[in-house]
Amino acid sequence: MENRGAGAEPQHEHVEKKNVIPLLTPYKMGPFHLSHRIVLAPLTRQRSYNNVPQSHAILYYSQRTTKGGLLIAEATGVSDTAQGYPQTPGIWTKEQVEAWKPIVDAVHAKGGIFFCQLVHVGRVSNQDLQPNGQAPISSSDKPLAPQVQTKGVIVGQFTPPRRLRTDEIPQIVNDFRLAARNAIEAGFDGVEIHGAHGFLIDQFLKDEVNDRTDQYGGSIDNRCRFALEIVEAIANEIGAHRVGIRISPFANFNESGDSNPEALGLYIAESLNKYGILYCHMVEPRFTIVGENCVTPHSLLPMRKAFNGTFLVAGGYGREDGNKAVAEGCADLVVYGRIFLANPDLPKRFELDAPLNKYNRDTFYTPDPVVGYTDYPFLETTS
Ligand SMILES: Cc1cc2nc3c(=O)[nH]c(=O)nc-3n(C[C@H](O)[C@H](O)[C@H](O)COP(=O)(O)O)c2cc1C
Repeated sequence: MENRGAGAEPQHEHVEKKNVIPLLTPYKMGPFHLSHRIVLAPLTRQRSYNNVPQSHAILYYSQRTTKGGLLIAEATGVSDTAQGYPQTPGIWTKEQVEAWKPIVDAVHAKGGIFFCQLVHVGRVSNQDLQPNGQAPISSSDKPLAPQVQTKGVIVGQFTPPRRLRTDEIPQIVNDFRLAARNAIEAGFDGVEIHGAHGFLIDQFLKDEVNDRTDQYGGSIDNRCRFALEIVEAIANEIGAHRVGIRISPFANFNESGDSNPEALGLYIAESLNKYGILYCHMVEPRFTIVGENCVTPHSLLPMRKAFNGTFLVAGGYGREDGNKAVAEGCADLVVYGRIFLANPDLPKRFELDAPLNKYNRDTFYTPDPVVGYTDYPFLETTS
């Protein structure tokens, strides 16, 4: 489509500009030289048995690696209280760190840049997934309602959480710090702090959940304190140039909404500048709880303008609006989830404007090491 316009012959340089696909232009993100702007989103795949990454992830991630492409690994637990879904990976034990190494090596062997997403799910958990059957921890003791699918099937049962005491919070910050250290030890190029989607950090950020009366609750700056302490601890540990954070101010996943998401998002974007971290990754306001785009008057532009580092956007993007976001300066990089999952060669398909494989929702979270994981066809075999 970018090849149109051969009528009255413009200057060579102009034609070249017209042919440029914005998503496929290079970008320098701190010390990392990216060859394009199409990023693999963090995607929980629930195939890491007993919380240990498995060798089948080598193929999965290397299939989605391009030379100079950025990949963000699936949400990875920072401690034994961090897990909320079965068979998700962790990075708090030596065994887990060792298991990540060949996966990271495979991505590097193909020239990819690989960040590890660090998560603590907080109250989005169940006592069966917690050490000694204890209650999950949170900013609050507000319980989360069971998650029910449209057909009435309960897909998530949550144990009412225990509110963290003020004096326990530094320990959780420390768990994130150690996990970041472990991620670097495993070979990752950096980490993404998962501050989105109603998990522990978001449970502090959002006033629908956070009802604390100490210095971690109440005003926006108090609610952001926990997130920023984690940012600071990790930046001090591994270097700010290796740190990104994901935030979803407008989302209300896991009953974690906010009464003033613009102010919250803006406050975080501005505050992050103090630490000089590499990137801020925000989920679009249009991307609501049902996982489809909706019409919204809100925009990430004020946050993009406020943040000094690299700005990543995610949520319902395709080729056309991804190109537009980059061309118009709304984002530096565009993060793709479901269509990258189903199209391991997504950058190639975008380059050729080729058709896309459809994703199969039914196999997003199944534990099979191949089906719905590494069996999506590449372009060559599709045609
Ligand atoms: C199967 C699946 C797993 C996901 N796992 C994570 C995750 O581990 N961490 C995270 O921050 N977001 C996760 N998400 C959200 C995606 O990263 C992404 O933001 C979302 O799918 C919207 O982007 P898309 O429209 O390009 O798919 C997941 C989404 C899907 C479909």
